[in-house]
Amino acid sequence: MALHKNVKRVTTHVLSAMKLKGEKIAMLTAYDYSYARLLDQAGIDVILVGDSASNVMAGYETTLPITLDHMIYHAASVVRAVNRALVVVDLPFGTYQGNPMGALASAIRIMKETGASAIKLEGGEEIIESVDRILSAGIPVMGHLGLTPQSIHKFGTYVVRATESDEAEKLKKDALALAKSGCFGIVLEKIPAKLAGEVTRSVNIPIIGIGAGSEVDGQVLVLHDMLGITQEFSPRFLRRYHNLQMEIKGAVQNYIEDVRSRNFPNEKEQY
Ligand code: KIV
Repeated sequence: MALHKNVKRVTTHVLSAMKLKGEKIAMLTAYDYSYARLLDQAGIDVILVGDSASNVMAGYETTLPITLDHMIYHAASVVRAVNRALVVVDLPFGTYQGNPMGALASAIRIMKETGASAIKLEGGEEIIESVDRILSAGIPVMGHLGLTPQSIHKFGTYVVRATESDEAEKLKKDALALAKSGCFGIVLEKIPAKLAGEVTRSVNIPIIGIGAGSEVDGQVLVLHDMLGITQEFSPRFLRRYHNLQMEIKGAVQNYIEDVRSRNFPNEKEQY
């Protein structure tokens, strides 16, 4: 029997057992109660309250402006909706890079004020002391390597990362360091599929890819991208499962038309 079918509540231990059994892990982002409820009911394994909320929910160009208070608001809304999935919350830019005690304080706020089960942060060896500090408080940590959007001003562009050997070597070392620290998983974003496969085979924790090919332990996408609500963003790795923006606009146009033509409300729709 597949593990994901048996499980009432997905934990970090369930994810490592899924890796061991070769069962793929399905992860999506969510930022609010209503969507999180649908994702959980559909059987998603992991819900990431990503700092992509900065783009998708708040309309900022990058993930940098979103604050810890904003992330806590989104994460608490998601947690209220979820019965089964593991909820992981991004630590936003500026809340963990300064020093390990600051990082721990941010992670504790997330855990206490949202009820989520884990946090995620971007970076490798340079943030390992913060990772250790958070883990020592019993808080599960997920890493994020490759294209790390909080460093966009350092990279300059959102192109594929680690195509050159020095960056690929650093990424492999970072993944090993995160795994050795005790992280329960790592997201690899927009890197060559072959490199992602090598990393996946080199560690015993689940590797979740976004634009990292198929040789990883699971996949994550931004919900609004895969549902076709966002329109401008079309990287090669993005498979759109729906064209929801067209359906939503169509429904809204029908409503406008009905109001204007006095077709809504009809007799049965009033008291
Ligand atoms: O914030 C986010 O949505 C993410 C995913 C792209 C992995 O970190």
